Amino acid sequence: MTVLVTGGAGFIGSNLADRLLAEDHRVVAVDDLSTGRIANLGEARGYGKAYTFFNMDVRADGLLPLFERHKPEVVFHLAAQAGVRPSLDDPLHDASVNLMGTLNVVECAIKVGARKVIYAASGGTIYGEPRRIPAKETAAQSSHPLSPYGISKKAALDYLGFYQRYRGMDYTACALANVYGPRQDPHGEAGVVSIFASTMLAGGSPTIFGDGNQTRDYVFIDDVVHAFVQAIDRGSGKLVNIGTGLETSVNGLYRLLADIIGFDGEPEHGPLPPGELRRSALDITVASSALAWKPWTHLEDGLAETVAYLKGV
Ligand SMILES: NC(=O)c1ccc[n+]([C@@H]2O[C@H](COP(=O)([O-])OP(=O)(O)OC[C@H]3O[C@@H](n4cnc5c(N)ncnc54)[C@H](O)[C@@H]3O)[C@@H](O)[C@H]2O)c1
Repeated sequence: MTVLVTGGAGFIGSNLADRLLAEDHRVVAVDDLSTGRIANLGEARGYGKAYTFFNMDVRADGLLPLFERHKPEVVFHLAAQAGVRPSLDDPLHDASVNLMGTLNVVECAIKVGARKVIYAASGGTIYGEPRRIPAKETAAQSSHPLSPYGISKKAALDYLGFYQRYRGMDYTACALANVYGPRQDPHGEAGVVSIFASTMLAGGSPTIFGDGNQTRDYVFIDDVVHAFVQAIDRGSGKLVNIGTGLETSVNGLYRLLADIIGFDGEPEHGPLPPGELRRSALDITVASSALAWKPWTHLEDGLAETVAYLKGV
């Protein structure tokens, strides 16, 4: 099968492309390299003709000819302005990429007769400050995201519903918790695991924002990639949480990483940035029934694998 992965040079998209290639799919990856990296494509390029990479913006007119040439059966849409903080500074850019870019991708998918669009939604932001933890997918019906990023990621879900009802385009939206693992950019602002780990490995002191008691649901990259693969033939028309259901505080994460690395320094402290949630964890009951998916990586094991990767970079 030919599949197209937008955001294919990014953290999640490149890991997904590798898995799809290993399963004998032909992969067309599109990415404008704004946060993605050519270095992430090394493994995929080893598959020769089964893999094609295009340096292109998902908002570009050139996207349609590319879809027409390759006629993907399934489109994984992961390209995004993927940070909360940049979205606070520049809501226009966020909406341009995350809404107009998404609409362009879905329109192209429809025009070439693709069977399905699988979308990377954000379980950590679309529910706003959740009333109940772990948050269920139904919470999206009455939620108010705190950041432009959460707003654009949530609005995209309504567009996917529209395209399914009126244009017959099937979709599954995977609402991802805090994904961590190899290839997450330690220089970005999103990946606290790689930021903490790389700072500790370099002998520096990571900064904990706020009191560090804020919680997140950390899910390992391999588990997330597996959820996207399960969605190829399952979860039609559904929003599906992909997380662990477990809350880990930033302080707890710091201690786990310090133990794994053997780091005995003290953290720095800084003010909690705006748009940050107090608590976050996702209910994953729907993922089990709709995608036959559950996370299998324990946090300690996933962190150890991430640290081993960072040591080798
Ligand atoms: N990492 C997480 O914890 C997490 C959580 C929830 C949702 N998500 C979503 O998963 C997807 C992948 O995130 P990631 O963590 O791999 O981030 P990432 O920044 O590594 O990947 C996003 C990719 O999209 C590309 N991109 C950005 N704008 C583009 C444009 N206009 N045209 C083409 N490509 C463009 C970037 O270059 C990058 O390679 C995003 O949609 C993100 O919102 C991630």
